[in-house]
Amino acid sequence: MSVSQKMQRLYAQARRIFCSAQMLIITGSYWGDEGKGKIVDFLSHLYDLAVRYSGGAGAGHTLVTPEGKKFVGHLIPCGIAQGIRCVLARGVFFDLKRFIAEFEDARRVLGKKLPPIWVDKYSPLWTPWHELFERWLEHSAGGKKVGTTGKAIGPLAGLKVLRCGPQVHHLYQSKALRLRLQGLYRALKPDFDAMVKAGLIKRQDIPLPIAVEKALLRDAAIIKSMVTDTAHELSGAYTAGLRILFEAAQAPGLDIDLGTWPYVSSGHSVAGGAPLGSGLPLKAFAKAIVLMVMKALPTRVGEGPFPSEIWDRKKASWFAKMHPNLFKNTAERNAFLRDKLQRINDGRATMADWSQYFQVLGYELGATTGRGRSVGFMDLMWLHYVIRINGPQYFALTRFDMLSGIKKIPVVIGYLLDDKQLSPGMMPDTDSLSRIRPVYEFWEGWDQDITGITDWNKLPAAAKRYIWKLEKRLGVPILLIGTGPERDAIIIRPDVAKRSRHKSA
Ligand code: GDP
Ligand code: IMO
Ligand code: MG
Repeated sequence: MSVSQKMQRLYAQARRIFCSAQMLIITGSYWGDEGKGKIVDFLSHLYDLAVRYSGGAGAGHTLVTPEGKKFVGHLIPCGIAQGIRCVLARGVFFDLKRFIAEFEDARRVLGKKLPPIWVDKYSPLWTPWHELFERWLEHSAGGKKVGTTGKAIGPLAGLKVLRCGPQVHHLYQSKALRLRLQGLYRALKPDFDAMVKAGLIKRQDIPLPIAVEKALLRDAAIIKSMVTDTAHELSGAYTAGLRILFEAAQAPGLDIDLGTWPYVSSGHSVAGGAPLGSGLPLKAFAKAIVLMVMKALPTRVGEGPFPSEIWDRKKASWFAKMHPNLFKNTAERNAFLRDKLQRINDGRATMADWSQYFQVLGYELGATTGRGRSVGFMDLMWLHYVIRINGPQYFALTRFDMLSGIKKIPVVIGYLLDDKQLSPGMMPDTDSLSRIRPVYEFWEGWDQDITGITDWNKLPAAAKRYIWKLEKRLGVPILLIGTGPERDAIIIRPDVAKRSRHKSA
Protein backbone atom coordinates (compact mmCIF):
# COMPACT_ATOMS: atom_id res chain seq x y z
CA MET A 1 0.00 0.00 0.00
CA SER A 2 1.44 3.45 -0.92
CA VAL A 3 1.91 6.15 1.71
CA SER A 4 -1.03 8.13 0.43
CA GLN A 5 -3.31 5.06 0.29
CA LYS A 6 -2.29 4.23 3.84
CA MET A 7 -3.05 7.80 4.96
CA GLN A 8 -6.39 7.79 3.16
CA ARG A 9 -7.40 4.59 4.92
CA LEU A 10 -6.35 5.99 8.31
CA TYR A 11 -8.16 9.27 7.69
CA ALA A 12 -11.35 7.51 6.64
CA GLN A 13 -11.31 5.67 9.98
CA ALA A 14 -10.47 8.80 11.99
CA ARG A 15 -13.12 10.91 10.25
CA ARG A 16 -15.92 8.60 11.38
CA ILE A 17 -14.97 9.10 15.01
CA PHE A 18 -13.87 12.72 15.22
CA CYS A 19 -16.44 14.27 12.92
CA SER A 20 -19.14 13.69 15.55
CA ALA A 21 -17.84 16.74 17.51
CA GLN A 22 -16.88 20.25 16.40
CA MET A 23 -14.15 20.66 19.03
CA LEU A 24 -11.22 18.47 19.96
CA ILE A 25 -8.87 19.14 22.88
CA ILE A 26 -5.52 17.32 22.81
CA THR A 27 -3.57 17.30 26.09
CA GLY A 28 -0.68 15.37 27.56
CA SER A 29 -0.86 12.95 30.50
CA TYR A 30 2.38 13.06 32.44
CA TRP A 31 5.09 15.80 32.50
CA GLY A 32 5.19 16.69 28.82
CA ASP A 33 6.76 15.28 25.66
CA GLU A 34 4.16 12.54 25.24
CA GLY A 35 3.94 13.01 21.48
CA LYS A 36 1.17 15.63 21.40
CA GLY A 37 2.75 17.13 18.25
CA LYS A 38 2.51 13.87 16.36
CA ILE A 39 -1.14 13.31 17.28
CA VAL A 40 -2.09 16.94 16.50
CA ASP A 41 -0.33 16.65 13.15
CA PHE A 42 -2.14 13.40 12.37
CA LEU A 43 -5.62 14.70 13.24
CA SER A 44 -5.33 18.29 11.93
CA HIS A 45 -6.42 17.12 8.51
CA LEU A 46 -9.96 16.79 9.97
CA TYR A 47 -10.12 20.36 11.32
CA ASP A 48 -10.26 23.93 10.02
CA LEU A 49 -8.15 25.52 12.76
CA ALA A 50 -5.42 24.39 15.16
CA VAL A 51 -5.19 26.48 18.34
CA ARG A 52 -2.40 26.58 20.92
CA TYR A 53 -4.11 27.68 24.12
CA SER A 54 -1.34 27.60 26.73
CA GLY A 55 2.40 27.79 27.40
CA GLY A 56 5.03 29.57 25.38
CA ALA A 57 8.32 28.97 23.60
CA GLY A 58 9.42 26.44 26.23
CA ALA A 59 7.20 23.78 24.64
CA GLY A 60 8.59 21.58 21.88
CA HIS A 61 6.14 19.57 19.80
CA THR A 62 7.63 17.31 17.14
CA LEU A 63 5.95 16.22 13.95
CA VAL A 64 7.40 13.99 11.26
CA THR A 65 5.61 13.86 7.91
CA PRO A 66 5.29 10.57 6.00
CA GLU A 67 8.08 11.90 3.74
CA GLY A 68 10.33 12.22 6.80
CA LYS A 69 10.26 16.04 7.14
CA LYS A 70 10.68 16.92 10.80
CA PHE A 71 9.43 20.14 12.39
CA VAL A 72 9.41 21.18 16.04
CA GLY A 73 6.67 23.63 16.98
CA HIS A 74 7.50 25.67 20.07
CA LEU A 75 4.85 28.33 19.55
CA ILE A 76 3.19 27.40 16.26
CA PRO A 77 0.58 24.62 16.50
CA CYS A 78 1.40 21.35 14.76
CA GLY A 79 -1.56 21.87 12.43
CA ILE A 80 0.87 23.87 10.29
CA ALA A 81 2.09 20.87 8.29
CA GLN A 82 -1.46 20.00 7.22
CA GLY A 83 -2.03 23.52 5.96
CA ILE A 84 -4.83 24.56 8.32
CA ARG A 85 -5.04 27.98 9.96
CA CYS A 86 -2.92 28.11 13.09
CA VAL A 87 -3.81 30.24 16.10
CA LEU A 88 -1.61 31.36 19.00
CA ALA A 89 -4.44 32.23 21.37
CA ARG A 90 -4.42 34.49 24.41
CA GLY A 91 -3.22 31.77 26.76
CA VAL A 92 0.14 31.70 24.92
CA PHE A 93 3.11 33.83 26.08
CA PHE A 94 4.43 35.43 22.92
CA ASP A 95 8.13 35.53 22.10
CA LEU A 96 8.46 37.58 18.90
CA LYS A 97 12.07 36.74 18.10
CA ARG A 98 11.58 33.00 18.55
CA PHE A 99 8.28 33.07 16.65
CA ILE A 100 9.95 34.60 13.60
CA ALA A 101 12.81 32.07 13.73
CA GLU A 102 10.26 29.26 14.01
CA PHE A 103 8.19 30.62 11.13
CA GLU A 104 11.32 30.66 8.95
CA ASP A 105 12.12 27.12 10.07
CA ALA A 106 8.60 25.99 9.13
CA ARG A 107 9.04 27.58 5.69
CA ARG A 108 12.40 25.84 5.21
CA VAL A 109 11.17 22.41 6.33
CA LEU A 110 7.57 22.35 5.17
CA GLY A 111 7.78 24.50 2.05
CA LYS A 112 7.27 28.15 1.24
CA LYS A 113 3.48 28.22 1.30
CA LEU A 114 2.40 28.13 4.92
CA PRO A 115 -1.21 28.46 6.08
CA PRO A 116 -2.38 31.73 7.65
CA ILE A 117 -1.55 32.33 11.31
CA TRP A 118 -3.32 34.44 13.93
CA VAL A 119 -1.40 35.80 16.92
CA ASP A 120 -3.40 37.19 19.82
CA LYS A 121 -2.98 40.92 20.28
CA TYR A 122 -3.44 40.75 24.06
CA SER A 123 -0.91 38.01 24.79
CA PRO A 124 1.98 38.94 27.10
CA LEU A 125 5.04 39.95 25.09
CA TRP A 126 8.51 38.55 25.87
CA THR A 127 11.40 40.90 26.59
CA PRO A 128 15.03 40.01 27.45
CA TRP A 129 14.32 41.29 30.98
CA HIS A 130 11.84 38.46 31.56
CA GLU A 131 14.62 36.03 30.79
CA LEU A 132 17.13 37.78 33.08
CA PHE A 133 14.54 37.81 35.83
CA GLU A 134 14.03 34.06 35.42
CA ARG A 135 17.76 33.50 35.95
CA TRP A 136 17.50 35.54 39.13
CA LEU A 137 14.52 33.54 40.41
CA GLU A 138 16.26 30.23 39.72
CA HIS A 139 19.43 31.51 41.38
CA SER A 140 17.54 32.78 44.43
CA ALA A 141 15.73 29.46 44.87
CA GLY A 142 19.01 27.89 45.99
CA GLY A 143 18.72 24.12 46.00
CA LYS A 144 15.02 24.32 45.12
CA LYS A 145 15.24 25.61 41.57
CA VAL A 146 12.61 24.50 39.05
CA GLY A 147 14.99 23.66 36.21
CA THR A 148 13.04 25.67 33.65
CA THR A 149 13.45 25.69 29.89
CA GLY A 150 14.95 29.19 30.18
CA LYS A 151 12.27 30.77 27.98
CA ALA A 152 10.97 33.11 30.71
CA ILE A 153 7.62 31.36 31.04
CA GLY A 154 7.34 31.97 34.81
CA PRO A 155 8.15 35.71 34.63
CA LEU A 156 5.84 36.20 31.64
CA ALA A 157 3.00 34.57 33.56
CA GLY A 158 3.82 36.22 36.88
CA LEU A 159 4.24 39.72 35.51
CA LYS A 160 1.03 39.32 33.53
CA VAL A 161 -0.80 38.69 36.79
CA LEU A 162 0.99 41.70 38.30
CA ARG A 163 -0.26 43.69 35.28
CA CYS A 164 3.26 44.72 34.38
CA GLY A 165 4.95 44.61 30.94
CA PRO A 166 3.81 44.91 27.32
CA GLN A 167 1.27 42.93 25.31
CA VAL A 168 1.57 42.15 21.62
CA HIS A 169 -0.64 45.05 20.44
CA HIS A 170 1.65 47.56 22.15
CA LEU A 171 4.14 46.86 19.34
CA TYR A 172 1.91 49.04 17.17
CA GLN A 173 1.39 51.90 19.64
CA SER A 174 4.82 53.44 20.09
CA LYS A 175 3.97 55.62 23.09
CA ALA A 176 2.26 52.82 25.00
CA LEU A 177 5.10 50.43 24.21
CA ARG A 178 7.68 52.85 25.57
CA LEU A 179 5.70 53.43 28.78
CA ARG A 180 5.12 49.71 29.31
CA LEU A 181 8.81 48.92 28.77
CA GLN A 182 9.92 51.67 31.11
CA GLY A 183 7.53 50.46 33.80
CA LEU A 184 8.76 46.90 33.50
CA TYR A 185 12.41 47.99 33.57
CA ARG A 186 11.87 50.12 36.68
CA ALA A 187 10.08 47.27 38.46
CA LEU A 188 12.86 44.77 37.75
CA LYS A 189 15.89 47.09 38.02
CA PRO A 190 16.56 46.41 41.74
CA ASP A 191 16.73 42.69 40.94
CA PHE A 192 19.11 43.31 38.05
CA ASP A 193 21.32 45.38 40.35
CA ALA A 194 21.32 42.49 42.81
CA MET A 195 22.29 40.12 39.99
CA VAL A 196 25.27 42.32 39.16
CA LYS A 197 26.22 42.46 42.82
CA ALA A 198 25.98 38.68 43.09
CA GLY A 199 28.30 38.38 40.08
CA LEU A 200 25.61 36.62 38.04
CA ILE A 201 25.71 39.14 35.18
CA LYS A 202 27.66 42.25 34.18
CA ARG A 203 26.01 45.65 34.03
CA GLN A 204 26.33 45.68 30.24
CA ASP A 205 24.24 42.48 30.09
CA ILE A 206 21.17 44.49 31.15
CA PRO A 207 19.66 46.03 28.03
CA LEU A 208 18.31 49.57 28.36
CA PRO A 209 14.64 50.26 27.48
CA ILE A 210 15.58 52.07 24.30
CA ALA A 211 17.53 49.03 23.02
CA VAL A 212 14.70 46.64 23.89
CA GLU A 213 12.18 48.89 22.16
CA LYS A 214 14.34 49.13 19.05
CA ALA A 215 14.82 45.37 18.79
CA LEU A 216 11.09 44.70 19.20
CA LEU A 217 10.10 47.34 16.66
CA ARG A 218 12.57 45.97 14.14
CA ASP A 219 10.58 42.70 14.01
CA ALA A 220 7.09 44.04 14.68
CA ALA A 221 6.26 44.77 11.03
CA ILE A 222 6.91 41.16 10.01
CA ILE A 223 3.95 39.84 12.02
CA LYS A 224 1.62 42.84 11.85
CA SER A 225 -0.86 41.19 9.49
CA MET A 226 -1.13 38.15 11.81
CA VAL A 227 -1.96 40.09 14.98
CA THR A 228 -5.63 40.07 15.88
CA ASP A 229 -8.15 39.55 18.67
CA THR A 230 -8.09 35.75 18.45
CA ALA A 231 -10.91 35.36 20.99
CA HIS A 232 -13.16 37.32 18.64
CA GLU A 233 -11.96 35.45 15.56
CA LEU A 234 -12.42 32.08 17.25
CA SER A 235 -15.90 33.04 18.33
CA GLY A 236 -16.72 33.75 14.67
CA ALA A 237 -15.19 30.45 13.58
CA TYR A 238 -17.13 28.54 16.24
CA THR A 239 -20.43 30.20 15.34
CA ALA A 240 -19.83 29.49 11.66
CA GLY A 241 -19.50 25.80 12.53
CA LEU A 242 -15.79 25.50 11.73
CA ARG A 243 -14.00 22.57 13.30
CA ILE A 244 -11.39 23.49 15.89
CA LEU A 245 -8.54 21.45 17.36
CA PHE A 246 -6.99 22.71 20.62
CA GLU A 247 -3.37 21.81 21.33
CA ALA A 248 -2.17 21.98 24.94
CA ALA A 249 1.42 22.75 25.74
CA GLN A 250 3.05 20.72 28.52
CA ALA A 251 0.82 18.34 30.46
CA PRO A 252 -1.25 18.00 33.66
CA GLY A 253 1.85 17.30 35.78
CA LEU A 254 3.18 20.73 34.74
CA ASP A 255 -0.10 22.66 35.12
CA ILE A 256 0.37 25.66 37.40
CA ASP A 257 -2.53 24.68 39.70
CA LEU A 258 -3.05 20.96 39.20
CA GLY A 259 0.54 19.81 38.62
CA THR A 260 3.40 19.16 41.02
CA TRP A 261 3.81 22.78 42.16
CA PRO A 262 6.35 24.46 42.31
CA TYR A 263 7.97 22.06 39.82
CA VAL A 264 5.58 23.08 37.08
CA SER A 265 5.32 25.44 34.14
CA SER A 266 3.14 28.52 34.52
CA GLY A 267 0.06 27.93 32.40
CA HIS A 268 -3.12 25.88 32.30
CA SER A 269 -2.10 22.81 30.37
CA VAL A 270 -5.08 20.69 31.44
CA ALA A 271 -8.10 20.42 29.13
CA GLY A 272 -9.84 23.11 31.19
CA GLY A 273 -7.23 25.57 29.91
CA ALA A 274 -8.82 25.50 26.44
CA PRO A 275 -11.84 27.72 27.18
CA LEU A 276 -9.70 30.06 29.30
CA GLY A 277 -6.86 30.33 26.80
CA SER A 278 -9.10 30.68 23.75
CA GLY A 279 -11.77 32.98 25.17
CA LEU A 280 -14.55 30.71 23.89
CA PRO A 281 -17.58 30.13 26.13
CA LEU A 282 -17.96 26.88 28.07
CA LYS A 283 -20.99 25.90 25.98
CA ALA A 284 -18.71 25.65 22.95
CA PHE A 285 -17.00 22.74 24.68
CA ALA A 286 -20.13 20.95 25.90
CA LYS A 287 -19.70 18.21 23.29
CA ALA A 288 -15.93 18.49 22.82
CA ILE A 289 -13.83 15.36 22.59
CA VAL A 290 -10.90 15.32 25.01
CA LEU A 291 -8.03 13.15 23.81
CA MET A 292 -5.19 12.57 26.22
CA VAL A 293 -1.82 11.63 24.79
CA MET A 294 0.25 9.30 26.95
CA LYS A 295 3.56 7.72 26.12
CA ALA A 296 4.29 4.07 26.86
CA LEU A 297 7.15 5.22 29.10
CA PRO A 298 6.71 8.67 30.71
CA THR A 299 9.65 11.07 30.92
CA ARG A 300 10.55 14.14 32.93
CA VAL A 301 13.09 16.98 32.54
CA GLY A 302 13.83 19.72 35.05
CA GLU A 303 13.15 19.11 38.75
CA GLY A 304 10.21 17.66 40.66
CA PRO A 305 8.69 14.35 41.72
CA PHE A 306 8.32 11.50 39.27
CA PRO A 307 7.06 8.43 41.16
CA SER A 308 7.71 5.81 38.47
CA GLU A 309 11.14 7.19 37.50
CA ILE A 310 13.54 4.35 36.82
CA TRP A 311 16.92 5.89 37.59
CA ASP A 312 18.26 9.20 38.86
CA ARG A 313 17.31 12.48 37.09
CA LYS A 314 20.77 14.02 37.21
CA LYS A 315 22.51 10.82 36.18
CA ALA A 316 20.09 10.34 33.28
CA SER A 317 20.73 13.88 32.08
CA TRP A 318 24.47 13.48 32.49
CA PHE A 319 24.39 10.12 30.67
CA ALA A 320 22.76 11.71 27.60
CA LYS A 321 25.33 14.51 27.62
CA MET A 322 28.29 12.17 27.90
CA HIS A 323 27.18 9.78 25.14
CA PRO A 324 25.98 11.83 22.16
CA ASN A 325 26.91 9.02 19.74
CA LEU A 326 24.29 6.74 21.24
CA PHE A 327 21.61 9.26 20.22
CA LYS A 328 22.67 9.14 16.57
CA ASN A 329 22.19 6.37 14.08
CA THR A 330 25.50 4.61 14.74
CA ALA A 331 26.74 1.01 14.97
CA GLU A 332 27.70 1.82 18.57
CA ARG A 333 24.05 2.65 19.31
CA ASN A 334 22.80 -0.63 17.84
CA ALA A 335 25.33 -2.70 19.80
CA PHE A 336 24.46 -0.79 22.99
CA LEU A 337 20.74 -1.42 22.56
CA ARG A 338 21.29 -5.13 21.80
CA ASP A 339 23.39 -5.57 24.92
CA LYS A 340 20.98 -3.72 27.22
CA LEU A 341 17.94 -5.59 25.91
CA GLN A 342 19.71 -8.88 26.49
CA ARG A 343 20.44 -7.89 30.09
CA ILE A 344 16.83 -6.80 30.62
CA ASN A 345 15.46 -10.09 29.34
CA ASP A 346 18.06 -12.19 31.23
CA GLY A 347 17.04 -10.51 34.47
CA ARG A 348 20.57 -9.04 34.88
CA ALA A 349 19.62 -5.40 34.24
CA THR A 350 20.14 -2.74 36.88
CA MET A 351 17.80 0.25 37.06
CA ALA A 352 20.52 2.22 35.21
CA ASP A 353 20.43 -0.37 32.38
CA TRP A 354 16.64 -0.14 32.05
CA SER A 355 16.70 3.65 32.02
CA GLN A 356 19.59 3.97 29.59
CA TYR A 357 18.00 1.44 27.23
CA PHE A 358 14.77 3.44 26.97
CA GLN A 359 16.55 6.81 26.91
CA VAL A 360 18.68 5.76 23.95
CA LEU A 361 15.95 3.79 22.16
CA GLY A 362 13.54 6.74 22.39
CA TYR A 363 16.12 9.45 21.56
CA GLU A 364 14.98 11.02 24.84
CA LEU A 365 16.47 14.48 24.44
CA GLY A 366 14.35 17.60 25.08
CA ALA A 367 12.93 19.10 21.86
CA THR A 368 13.57 22.64 23.20
CA THR A 369 16.64 22.42 25.43
CA GLY A 370 18.33 19.18 24.30
CA ARG A 371 18.53 18.05 27.95
CA GLY A 372 18.47 14.29 28.57
CA ARG A 373 14.99 13.19 29.63
CA SER A 374 14.71 10.76 32.52
CA VAL A 375 12.41 7.79 31.87
CA GLY A 376 9.81 6.09 34.06
CA PHE A 377 7.50 3.11 33.75
CA MET A 378 3.82 3.32 32.84
CA ASP A 379 2.13 4.69 35.97
CA LEU A 380 -1.53 3.82 36.48
CA MET A 381 -1.79 5.72 39.76
CA TRP A 382 -0.73 8.99 38.16
CA LEU A 383 -3.00 8.32 35.19
CA HIS A 384 -6.02 7.82 37.47
CA TYR A 385 -5.37 11.29 38.85
CA VAL A 386 -5.07 13.03 35.47
CA ILE A 387 -8.12 11.19 34.12
CA ARG A 388 -10.06 12.68 37.02
CA ILE A 389 -8.91 16.18 36.03
CA ASN A 390 -9.18 15.96 32.25
CA GLY A 391 -12.13 13.59 31.79
CA PRO A 392 -10.94 12.20 28.44
CA GLN A 393 -13.13 10.21 26.09
CA TYR A 394 -10.04 8.56 24.60
CA PHE A 395 -6.34 8.03 25.02
CA ALA A 396 -3.69 8.12 22.31
CA LEU A 397 -0.83 5.87 23.40
CA THR A 398 2.41 6.86 21.69
CA ARG A 399 5.76 5.08 21.54
CA PHE A 400 4.17 1.68 21.93
CA ASP A 401 6.89 0.40 19.56
CA MET A 402 9.43 1.03 22.32
CA LEU A 403 8.14 -1.90 24.35
CA SER A 404 8.89 -4.40 21.55
CA GLY A 405 11.18 -7.21 22.65
CA ILE A 406 10.78 -6.79 26.42
CA LYS A 407 9.67 -10.08 27.96
CA LYS A 408 8.19 -8.69 31.17
CA ILE A 409 7.04 -5.07 31.20
CA PRO A 410 6.99 -3.32 34.60
CA VAL A 411 3.86 -1.22 35.24
CA VAL A 412 3.25 0.89 38.36
CA ILE A 413 -0.13 -0.07 39.78
CA GLY A 414 0.04 1.38 43.30
CA TYR A 415 1.66 4.05 45.46
CA LEU A 416 2.90 3.44 48.98
CA LEU A 417 3.25 6.53 51.15
CA ASP A 418 4.82 5.74 54.50
CA ASP A 419 3.86 2.11 53.88
CA LYS A 420 0.20 2.99 53.36
CA GLN A 421 -1.40 2.26 49.99
CA LEU A 422 -3.09 5.30 48.37
CA SER A 423 -6.41 4.90 46.62
CA PRO A 424 -6.55 5.52 42.86
CA GLY A 425 -7.31 9.14 41.96
CA MET A 426 -5.82 10.50 45.20
CA MET A 427 -2.79 12.71 44.79
CA PRO A 428 -0.60 13.68 47.73
CA ASP A 429 1.26 17.00 47.99
CA THR A 430 4.49 17.47 46.05
CA ASP A 431 6.87 16.61 48.90
CA SER A 432 4.97 13.45 49.75
CA LEU A 433 4.87 12.50 46.07
CA SER A 434 8.66 12.50 45.99
CA ARG A 435 8.63 9.97 48.86
CA ILE A 436 6.27 7.53 47.12
CA ARG A 437 7.34 3.92 46.75
CA PRO A 438 5.79 2.46 43.62
CA VAL A 439 4.13 -0.96 43.55
CA TYR A 440 4.80 -2.89 40.34
CA GLU A 441 3.14 -5.53 38.28
CA PHE A 442 4.94 -7.24 35.40
CA TRP A 443 2.88 -7.52 32.27
CA GLU A 444 3.52 -10.01 29.49
CA GLY A 445 5.57 -8.61 26.58
CA TRP A 446 6.11 -9.71 22.97
CA ASP A 447 9.12 -10.46 20.75
CA GLN A 448 8.10 -8.98 17.43
CA ASP A 449 9.20 -5.46 16.50
CA ILE A 450 5.92 -3.57 15.96
CA THR A 451 7.52 -0.38 14.56
CA GLY A 452 5.47 1.14 11.76
CA ILE A 453 2.47 -1.22 12.06
CA THR A 454 -0.81 0.52 11.18
CA ASP A 455 -3.22 -2.39 11.34
CA TRP A 456 -4.53 -3.52 14.74
CA ASN A 457 -4.87 -7.07 13.47
CA LYS A 458 -1.15 -7.24 12.68
CA LEU A 459 -0.15 -6.62 16.32
CA PRO A 460 1.08 -9.67 18.24
CA ALA A 461 -1.55 -11.16 20.56
CA ALA A 462 0.40 -10.13 23.69
CA ALA A 463 0.57 -6.50 22.49
CA LYS A 464 -3.21 -6.49 22.09
CA ARG A 465 -3.60 -8.02 25.54
CA TYR A 466 -1.39 -5.22 26.96
CA ILE A 467 -3.68 -2.59 25.43
CA TRP A 468 -6.88 -4.27 26.57
CA LYS A 469 -5.55 -4.66 30.10
CA LEU A 470 -4.34 -1.06 30.24
CA GLU A 471 -7.61 0.46 29.09
CA LYS A 472 -9.62 -1.81 31.37
CA ARG A 473 -7.58 -0.68 34.38
CA LEU A 474 -7.89 2.98 33.36
CA GLY A 475 -11.52 2.86 32.34
CA VAL A 476 -10.81 4.95 29.22
CA PRO A 477 -10.52 3.47 25.71
CA ILE A 478 -7.20 3.68 23.89
CA LEU A 479 -8.22 4.80 20.44
CA LEU A 480 -4.88 5.62 18.80
CA ILE A 481 -1.59 3.75 19.13
CA GLY A 482 1.69 5.26 17.92
CA THR A 483 4.20 2.84 16.45
CA GLY A 484 6.86 5.31 15.29
CA PRO A 485 7.53 9.07 15.05
CA GLU A 486 6.07 9.51 11.55
CA ARG A 487 2.53 10.72 10.92
CA ASP A 488 1.53 7.43 9.34
CA ALA A 489 3.02 5.19 12.06
CA ILE A 490 -0.28 4.91 13.89
CA ILE A 491 -3.04 2.40 14.56
CA ILE A 492 -6.71 3.33 14.93
CA ARG A 493 -8.46 0.71 17.04
CA PRO A 494 -11.35 -0.67 14.99
CA ASP A 495 -13.17 -2.07 18.07
CA VAL A 496 -13.06 1.30 19.87
CA ALA A 497 -14.10 3.13 16.69
CA LYS A 498 -17.08 0.82 16.33
CA ARG A 499 -18.18 1.37 19.93
CA SER A 500 -17.83 5.14 19.57
CA ARG A 501 -20.04 5.16 16.46
CA HIS A 502 -22.74 3.35 18.41
CA LYS A 503 -22.46 6.02 21.11
CA SER A 504 -22.74 8.97 18.74
CA ALA A 505 -25.47 7.35 16.61
P1 GDP B 1 5.25 16.68 22.66
O1 GDP B 1 5.94 17.79 23.37
O2 GDP B 1 4.20 16.03 23.50
O3 GDP B 1 4.71 17.07 21.32
O4 GDP B 1 6.36 15.56 22.41
P2 GDP B 1 7.86 15.79 21.86
O5 GDP B 1 7.81 16.12 20.43
O6 GDP B 1 8.60 16.71 22.76
O7 GDP B 1 8.48 14.36 22.11
C1 GDP B 1 7.90 13.21 21.60
C2 GDP B 1 8.94 12.44 20.79
O8 GDP B 1 8.44 11.15 20.51
C3 GDP B 1 9.26 13.08 19.45
O9 GDP B 1 10.60 12.84 19.14
C4 GDP B 1 8.36 12.31 18.49
O10 GDP B 1 8.85 12.29 17.15
C5 GDP B 1 8.40 10.94 19.09
N1 GDP B 1 7.21 10.10 18.88
C6 GDP B 1 5.90 10.48 18.88
N2 GDP B 1 5.10 9.39 18.74
C7 GDP B 1 5.93 8.31 18.66
C8 GDP B 1 5.70 6.89 18.55
O11 GDP B 1 4.58 6.41 18.51
N3 GDP B 1 6.82 6.11 18.50
C9 GDP B 1 8.09 6.62 18.57
N4 GDP B 1 9.12 5.77 18.52
N5 GDP B 1 8.31 7.93 18.69
C10 GDP B 1 7.26 8.76 18.75
P1 IMO C 1 5.94 20.13 25.87
O1 IMO C 1 4.78 21.01 25.45
C1 IMO C 1 8.56 18.78 29.08
C2 IMO C 1 9.30 21.70 32.29
C3 IMO C 1 10.70 22.25 32.46
C4 IMO C 1 10.68 22.57 33.94
C5 IMO C 1 9.25 23.07 34.18
C6 IMO C 1 9.10 24.59 34.13
O2 IMO C 1 6.96 19.96 24.82
O3 IMO C 1 5.42 18.84 26.43
P2 IMO C 1 9.21 26.42 32.22
O4 IMO C 1 10.32 26.77 31.30
O5 IMO C 1 7.94 26.09 31.52
O6 IMO C 1 8.99 27.43 33.31
O7 IMO C 1 9.71 25.09 32.97
O8 IMO C 1 8.47 22.48 33.16
N1 IMO C 1 8.72 21.84 30.94
C7 IMO C 1 8.54 20.83 30.08
N2 IMO C 1 8.92 19.54 30.14
N3 IMO C 1 7.86 19.23 28.01
C8 IMO C 1 7.47 20.52 27.96
O9 IMO C 1 6.65 20.99 27.00
C9 IMO C 1 7.85 21.40 29.00
N4 IMO C 1 7.64 22.72 29.23
C10 IMO C 1 8.17 22.97 30.42
O10 IMO C 1 11.67 21.29 32.14
O11 IMO C 1 10.83 21.39 34.69
MG1 MG D 1 7.90 18.36 23.90
